[in-house]
Amino acid sequence: MEILKVSNLSKIYKGTISYEALVHIDLTIPKGEFVGIMGPSGSGKTTLLNLVSTIDTPTSGAVLINGNDPHRLTADELAVFRRRELGFVFQSFNLLHTLTVKENILLPLTLDGTDLTEMNRRVEEIADKLGISGILNKRTYEISGGQAQRTAIARALIHTPKLVLADEPTGNLDSKSARDVMELLTMLNKEEEATMMLVTHDAMAASYCNRVVFIKDGKLYNEIYCGDSREAFYQKIINVLSLLGGSGNEFSTIRV
Ligand SMILES: Nc1ncnc2c1ncn2[C@@H]1O[C@H](COP(=O)(O)OP(=O)(O)OP(=O)(O)O)[C@@H](O)[C@H]1O
Ligand SMILES: [Mg+2]
Repeated sequence: MEILKVSNLSKIYKGTISYEALVHIDLTIPKGEFVGIMGPSGSGKTTLLNLVSTIDTPTSGAVLINGNDPHRLTADELAVFRRRELGFVFQSFNLLHTLTVKENILLPLTLDGTDLTEMNRRVEEIADKLGISGILNKRTYEISGGQAQRTAIARALIHTPKLVLADEPTGNLDSKSARDVMELLTMLNKEEEATMMLVTHDAMAASYCNRVVFIKDGKLYNEIYCGDSREAFYQKIINVLSLLGGSGNEFSTIRV
């Protein structure tokens, strides 16, 4: 069963100069797949995530999530749909600075009126996995960039969403923390059958995916699947990235 089906999707940003950021994209993701999206800076990755997550509207084409077009829901339906079915990790973390780390993580559950004991149990479990148990009562301006990133990840996953959309979730992390985050996402993917769509510049992070889709100039460029070996997959990813071109420092966080 497919959880996401993107058909002939295009996005033109209209302004004094119109810009075609996505051009006729087709992408189908079956339930439970872990898909990486890679491509040079400005190639349209965030645009694609924003169209899937309904933050932005397509110029043409369609997005189906679980068979429904979220762009056709009413505002109220959409709010519930996004809260229950989707988990977001943004490029900028979007944490609320008046709240503590714990309150930020609990936000999706608070909005849904989950039982307090259950909320505490879940927050402790996920904070432990992400190594942020010690900072739960801090305000978000008192924590580091990496801790903010992990807080944002915890908030995106706490309600075990069916589709997780992550934009550079390991972007600010050292390689050990980046690995921990990828292992956590992999675990959620396996145990909860959560479908993952993850934008990254990091070949190490991408090597945890089942498939990596490459975008260049708003178009699908190539896709490759992980075989039996993550190390071999990592090498294949590096190879496609070098074919893709772009300046080397756009893929600066290369690590095995
Ligand atoms: N709101 C906007 N208005 C006009 N142009 C935009 C807007 N948002 C993005 N763009 C342009 O669309 C193109 C794709 O942007 P997008 O943010 O999707 O790139 P990206 O692949 O996520 O890049 P990065 O890796 O740097 O995050 C870029 O050329 C960008 O300048
Ligand atoms: Mg981006």
